[in-house]
Amino acid sequence: MPSENVPAQTRPAETIPVETANDAPAGVQRRTVVTGLAVGGGALLLSQVARAQTATPAPAAVKITPLSKLTKDFATAEFMFGDTAALLVRLSGPPTDKARALEVKVGGKPVYLSAFTRVCTHLGCKPALPDAKTHLQVCPCHGSAYSADGTVVRGPAKLSLGLLKLEVRGSDVWAVALAPAPAPAS
Ligand code: FES
Repeated sequence: MPSENVPAQTRPAETIPVETANDAPAGVQRRTVVTGLAVGGGALLLSQVARAQTATPAPAAVKITPLSKLTKDFATAEFMFGDTAALLVRLSGPPTDKARALEVKVGGKPVYLSAFTRVCTHLGCKPALPDAKTHLQVCPCHGSAYSADGTVVRGPAKLSLGLLKLEVRGSDVWAVALAPAPAPAS
């Protein structure tokens, strides 16, 4: 069981390399071509309309890491959820929005885990890993910043990072689904 007597972290957040067990196929692309014939003003007009539809299946659940490896506050584990880079963070306490963390008991004490996609909600760049001191995840493109649980704290992004639902299965932490996106702030 992980020790709870860990001094405050003063170095870059520990990142646990994780092999993903998810081999979910990429989105299935279906292309439909509709050819239409139109006549106007005595001229024959042949038009083709190409339409692409993408149906992306929900990614399969993925094992992230053994819970026992998340021994320190702000420990992180990078993983892939489907085709999307994601991050698991052990928080130092319950988040303001309790929906953004899973509470688990470790050694009889509550531990809060949060996982989210690493896709900036402004224009899709990949935010940096949490800063060692501020624990902010800053987007390199336009400077949006997200807290350790992925909550947006600085724009131009208006939405928090996409939340993933977590489960503890046996001794491992799993990401099982993408939580519904919240409504944009007005
Ligand atoms: S894409 Fe991240 S701040 Fe613009």
